Amino acid sequence: MKKVYTKVTDAMNFYEGNDPTALAKNYGTPLYVYNERILRQRCRDLKEMVTYPKFVVDYSAKANSSLAFLQIVRSEGLEVDAMSPGEIFIEKQAGFAPDQIFYIGNNVSAEEMQYAIDANVVISVDSLSQLEQLGQLAPGHEVAVRFNPGVGAGHHEKVITAGKKTKFGIEPKYIPQVRSILEKYDLKLIGINQHIGSLFMTGEAFVASIAALFEIAKQFQGLRFVDMGGGFGIPYHKEDGEAPLDLKELGAAIDKALYKFAEEYGEQIALRIEPGRYISAESSVILSEVHSVKHNHDKKFVGCDCGFNVLQRPIMYDSYHGIEVYREEEKDSASEETVTVVGNICESGDILAKDRTLPEVFKGDILGILDAGAYGFTMASNYNNRLRPAEVLIRENGEVVLIREREVLEDLLRHQIALKDL
Ligand code: LLP
Repeated sequence: MKKVYTKVTDAMNFYEGNDPTALAKNYGTPLYVYNERILRQRCRDLKEMVTYPKFVVDYSAKANSSLAFLQIVRSEGLEVDAMSPGEIFIEKQAGFAPDQIFYIGNNVSAEEMQYAIDANVVISVDSLSQLEQLGQLAPGHEVAVRFNPGVGAGHHEKVITAGKKTKFGIEPKYIPQVRSILEKYDLKLIGINQHIGSLFMTGEAFVASIAALFEIAKQFQGLRFVDMGGGFGIPYHKEDGEAPLDLKELGAAIDKALYKFAEEYGEQIALRIEPGRYISAESSVILSEVHSVKHNHDKKFVGCDCGFNVLQRPIMYDSYHGIEVYREEEKDSASEETVTVVGNICESGDILAKDRTLPEVFKGDILGILDAGAYGFTMASNYNNRLRPAEVLIRENGEVVLIREREVLEDLLRHQIALKDL
């Protein structure tokens, strides 16, 4: 293979000696490729971030809930959160025990809540009416309550989940009402939780939010845990040298806050985080084939098969993903050029990268779309009746295994009922 532009994956030894153009040929494109070693390392980074003895890392499965992926996360000793009965179901299939699953619902139906009750998982509610609903369904049950600490953070307004402009959490001023519903139904409050938003690269907002959360926690006796939420960011602009989150510095600040809280609370209760992106994003690259290169007016477009049905983040949040170029033939790119990389969906918003500088790209090249392991496959769809891609995992010994088959056309008919009387 000709390595045209492979700076980031080379530095991480992402392909562990495999040739991405051969992977693309063997498994087809678009293809989600995962690296087990990197995934395991990210789990360990967070587990070792603090010294506080009862620190628990819950992986937030919404970022990536492929079965094999969850199995690896479990084998690293992490627990998980869940956002839906579907996530509870798949997590159990991956081997998580009910007490390792934390269901953080939002506006869930009575049926969904009942599913979580029957599954025996710990349930968090984030409104007074949902607390009331749990009380009616299961008086005497244990419950956690999600508060809004008033501090939010995130890479886009759509993913800031605390502060003044969000549907999530209960405002601390409603604590008296929380208490009275707990009492009315004899519910036992065993934890409180928050999630301020997704993707911070410095820790100030997170540290401020946990201080606010701990103030709330101190108003409740007998808690088993406080869950501080996720949001730990990763550097998407790696090829420009963007630095990773300084876990050492952030870990030290968090550690200090944890010990201080435990002392004030009078007990070293479990203190948890629930990161998704930090654990999963960097362990995946999407391989996508270039099917056309063209000029439209004064713009050069590189058209590939990674439409927003495969990776939604750019169209949804204007997100940046680094792009590498791999080529099977020994053919040189003349020079760097500015191109717009687009997918194959019939919308002009189907843009993967606008005005990106890349080495000259040819039809038949394979693009590597970096940092795609978080909110990549989980947000993929069948829009335009396109098939969701396959996923392969590069094991630690370099062996490549298929962990999800590419969909086939017949899958598009599953659950559809044709009319018989036309
Ligand atoms: N806990 C709760 C309650 C959450 O809602 C989320 C993410 C997390 C934990 C994990 O956050 P993380 O550590 O991954 O930042 N689709 C968007 C991100 C949406 C995040 C939704 N909630 C994206 O692609 O950027």
